[in-house]
Amino acid sequence: MQIEVRPLLQAELDDADGILRDAFGTLLGIDMNDDTEVFRTRFRAQHTVALAGLVDGVLVGSTLVTLWGSVGFLGPLSVTPRMWNSGVGTRLVGAATELLDARGATHQGLFTFPQSPMHHWLYHKFGFWPRYLTVIMSRPVGGEEPVLGWRMSAAAPASRQALLDACAAVTDSIHPGLDVRGEITAVLDQGLGEVVLVGAPDAPSGFAVCHSGAGTEAGSGTVYVKFAAVRPGPHTAAVFAALLGACQGFAAGAGARRLTVGVNTARHEAHRHLLGAGFRVDTAGVSMHRPNEPAYDRADIYVLDDWR
Ligand SMILES: CC(C)(COP(=O)(O)OP(=O)(O)OC[C@H]1O[C@@H](n2cnc3c(N)ncnc32)[C@H](O)[C@@H]1OP(=O)(O)O)[C@@H](O)C(=O)NCCC(=O)NCCS
Repeated sequence: MQIEVRPLLQAELDDADGILRDAFGTLLGIDMNDDTEVFRTRFRAQHTVALAGLVDGVLVGSTLVTLWGSVGFLGPLSVTPRMWNSGVGTRLVGAATELLDARGATHQGLFTFPQSPMHHWLYHKFGFWPRYLTVIMSRPVGGEEPVLGWRMSAAAPASRQALLDACAAVTDSIHPGLDVRGEITAVLDQGLGEVVLVGAPDAPSGFAVCHSGAGTEAGSGTVYVKFAAVRPGPHTAAVFAALLGACQGFAAGAGARRLTVGVNTARHEAHRHLLGAGFRVDTAGVSMHRPNEPAYDRADIYVLDDWR
């Protein structure tokens, strides 16, 4: 049996997506054939790399690698169920970590099942260590929400670059080199949702990258905050509240019924704030880090993301 790992080809996209839905559906015992689009939207983006796992020339699995500057993560990882425990997943994780190293991701991570010894072992082998839970939370969206902040899609093309750079300055102030401009560009270029911002127009104090509805990572009826951050400072809690309000307003305007976010529970203030704002936990994973360091998972950091 010959295992090969190489970049996924465009022509293999449908098969890779099908394997992903089958693998997670089999593991979790649920139907994954909903209208969310994780694989295709990330495949089209500039800041991600898709790796294919083949056995004797046949595609049997894949993983995505996401590059956020000095931070990078792998997943979703999947192997077709009939090939589980044949070593393909291990080869894909190995190739993903090599790629993350080569692309300068000095802090690497992933989101996995906290209760699964198999998953822990698979990632331990490459130096990932379990840290805090990351919770996926949501709350209902009312029909009328206040419209707060402003939206990047409305910015003139000439000012978009300056806004992108301002967002990179916010994330760099949280963790050196953390840069999600690729996520912002993917949402704006692919029409996946919106980037909402709060604070001064030339120097936003916070921003949120939102996916909205079918064909995105959110799915029908949902706005999902893929990433949000508030610049550290004396008023972070108030800015975070305004940013959540701006997301809520965007979600209501988009006709969503739920607003979904992810937060690492080591970001205690943000987690506590979300509970106070009516968000409840839908599911939890554990984040594993390589090396075993907190990076931006600190009590006073107001960042929303989940590395799924
Ligand atoms: C997770 C997944 C990609 C792993 O792929 P795979 O090809 O089966 O993985 P491998 O065969 O390379 O490795 C599995 C390892 O787990 C070990 N393992 C299996 N069951 C185990 C258990 N109960 N406890 C501990 N280790 C276990 C195997 O021995 C093997 O390790 P080894 O080669 O060092 O002995 C695959 O199971 C899958 O697609 N699952 C559904 C989707 C999923 O869970 N994705 C990952 C989400 S984070």
